[in-house]
Amino acid sequence: MSDPKIPADFLWGAAAAAYQIEGAANVDGRGESIWDRFSATPGKVRSGESGAVACDFYNRFPDDIGLMEELGLDAFRFSVSWPRILPEGRGHVNPAGLDFYDRLVDALLESEIEPFLTLYHWDLPQALEDEGGWRARSTAEAFVEYAAVVAERLGDRVRNWTTHNEPWVVAWIGHEMGRHAPGLRSEAAAVAVSHHLLLSHGLAVPVIRAAAPDARVGIVLDLWQTYPASDSPEDTAAALRVDGEHNRWFLDPVFRGEYPDDLPERNAIVAPLIHDGDLETIAAPIDFLGVNNYSRAIIAAGPEGPRPVRNPEARYTEMEWEVFPDGLRAVLVRVANEYGPAEIYVTENGASFGDVRGHDGRVHDPERTEYLAGYLDAVGRAIAEGAPVRGYFVWSLLDNFEWAEGYSKRFGIVYVDYPTLERVPKDSFYWYRDHIARSRATRSPSPATPVAAG
Ligand code: FCB
Repeated sequence: MSDPKIPADFLWGAAAAAYQIEGAANVDGRGESIWDRFSATPGKVRSGESGAVACDFYNRFPDDIGLMEELGLDAFRFSVSWPRILPEGRGHVNPAGLDFYDRLVDALLESEIEPFLTLYHWDLPQALEDEGGWRARSTAEAFVEYAAVVAERLGDRVRNWTTHNEPWVVAWIGHEMGRHAPGLRSEAAAVAVSHHLLLSHGLAVPVIRAAAPDARVGIVLDLWQTYPASDSPEDTAAALRVDGEHNRWFLDPVFRGEYPDDLPERNAIVAPLIHDGDLETIAAPIDFLGVNNYSRAIIAAGPEGPRPVRNPEARYTEMEWEVFPDGLRAVLVRVANEYGPAEIYVTENGASFGDVRGHDGRVHDPERTEYLAGYLDAVGRAIAEGAPVRGYFVWSLLDNFEWAEGYSKRFGIVYVDYPTLERVPKDSFYWYRDHIARSRATRSPSPATPVAAG
């Protein structure tokens, strides 16, 4: 099944993040991150696991790039570990940390794989957390220093930059629900964190461009379309509120320079934190929006506020996320129509299922293949409806450290046998490889960028 709506220059990719795959936590001058500290705190991560070894991507990346070549990937999305670069968060730069990403970028380019670099995928240096973390405005300034150091070193070769990955998750799961590092439980903290993350994004955009004149800069948001559980006015209002808190709280400032005005309690918390010019800074023009999407939210009104509802008819992944491909189409079209980003990349999409290695030594994961086929079809439909989607990154290349779930949730299209770190491509890996190849063979070249057939 290839899709005639996919443009010729569409990028096929896979995504991963530093703390989830690199391991090598205590080598070459890397500092401590909040995820090292959180993982070492009893009761925080399932089975007491941590990213100390993970997939050992730090040492094995040449082989993993071999897997990317076998897939025929155009692009690889990875994140840089801030504590490898600035072990104390600011000040002293660790050359060995920069050297690692230098080697990684060169190896990707050597294989003709475009690096998509994320600066912050959740591993804040612990030294900054000790000074108030993202609750403190000064962390936004430290982020800009870090962004400049990385852009100055890699900006001659890396074109595609994103500042943050999923600021909603950082703010709310990390600071209000306490399920991610640093494990706080305070609505006021979450709101402050969200503002400082957004501010740091806006401050970093021109700094990255100054250091890397060819850079294309964006931000990655986790956008889940919300659906009311019924037509009742109460459920409709509840769904709108969740949409505001989760999606528009980030989209509105980035694209319009304002927080959504239908969330008065939130606005009251954030107002004193907004300095003159902050909202203009946050709305710095970006080149593309990254959308991470796995599922949708069905919301009903409840006595204590909006609550999620389960769909009894649907299939759910091991994360308890409903498989609902049309939610991705809907969110892409909606974002395109309401916010007009120049370009969109689906920067994460994928599924966790209970994969096992069979007697034949292989991993048969038909549910994942079915999931990916459904969601890729939805991407094609979004493009047909006018959404400027330029690429798709499957989450994830490898099974990896799934945050508070430890290694219990496997999202890879490549199975990792953790005791030996052996990589075993799953059936979905071969399906994705063939899908990419078919799409290249059949799609018609776009008029603007003729490409050789074949
Ligand atoms: C996203 C994260 C990513 C991974 C997937 C499953 O929220 O960005 O690191 O954990 O979920």
